[in-house]
Amino acid sequence: MPQAADRSIDESIQIRAFDAPLGAEVIGLDLSKPLSQADFARIHRAHLDHHVLVFRDQRITPEQQVTFSKRFGPLQIHVLKQFALAGHPEVLIVSNVLENGKPIGLGDAGHFWHSDLSYKETPSLGSLLHAQELPKVGGDTLFSNQHLAWDTLPEHLRRAVEGRRAEHTYLAKYAELQKRSPWRPNLTPEQIAQVKPVVHPIVRTHPENGRRALFVSEHFTTRIIDMPEDESRALLDEIFAHSVKPEFLYRHEWRDHDMVFWDNRSVMHLAAGTPDDERRKLYRTTIEGDAPF
Ligand code: SIN
Repeated sequence: MPQAADRSIDESIQIRAFDAPLGAEVIGLDLSKPLSQADFARIHRAHLDHHVLVFRDQRITPEQQVTFSKRFGPLQIHVLKQFALAGHPEVLIVSNVLENGKPIGLGDAGHFWHSDLSYKETPSLGSLLHAQELPKVGGDTLFSNQHLAWDTLPEHLRRAVEGRRAEHTYLAKYAELQKRSPWRPNLTPEQIAQVKPVVHPIVRTHPENGRRALFVSEHFTTRIIDMPEDESRALLDEIFAHSVKPEFLYRHEWRDHDMVFWDNRSVMHLAAGTPDDERRKLYRTTIEGDAPF
């Protein structure tokens, strides 16, 4: 729910914070039009302040989504290239739709809490998801504020993770997802070579807003470096549980043509799920970020 505008009414763009611990609606911007430097600066600032931005009713082409996304940095191409939109390698189709029995996109993206591409040396700065076809029920996306998760982490957990690093791998839940859904193809040796495990700090400092954030997820984080396996598992489980407490969450209920732009350095997200008999299709672009520190 939009709460308060932080820009006066006569100016073209308004940023309305949601009544939630993160997220804001951007009003008055048509993403099909070239973005002025002033508007870019405004959106950039809002993205750093609110972590999730919602642009309503954007009638834009995939090309226009790519152009807007690239204003924030180079785009990353998902390892599952078979789910890229034809002619647009940077656009990942997120969809549960099957055509002739075959998936047209990645249907179980976001089944577990995660930050996009945390399994890369340079994980994503942010992702943009544009609604193409929405279910009549379900299909929400949840976002959790990882600055708040760090700020409120109990002292004993802070001490346990401070200065430590953890391993992230794309393959952590792959076999489990493959068993339960038709959307996970067998990976080729080339694809496996692209997703070698990486190590990142458990608490990262946001390179632009300077705030600290938890940076581990149930989807991709497998173990804490230099810690016995059972201790590492128990600690990660405690942190995962804390990091998605209800008081850190914004739940996005999609509307037609919504564009949602989130900061993967500040938030984790989760696809809440879509009934099997409902169709859902969105286009995702993913902007490359820095190596976490
Ligand atoms: C994702 O994890 O990028 C997809 C989220 C969603 O489908 O809601």
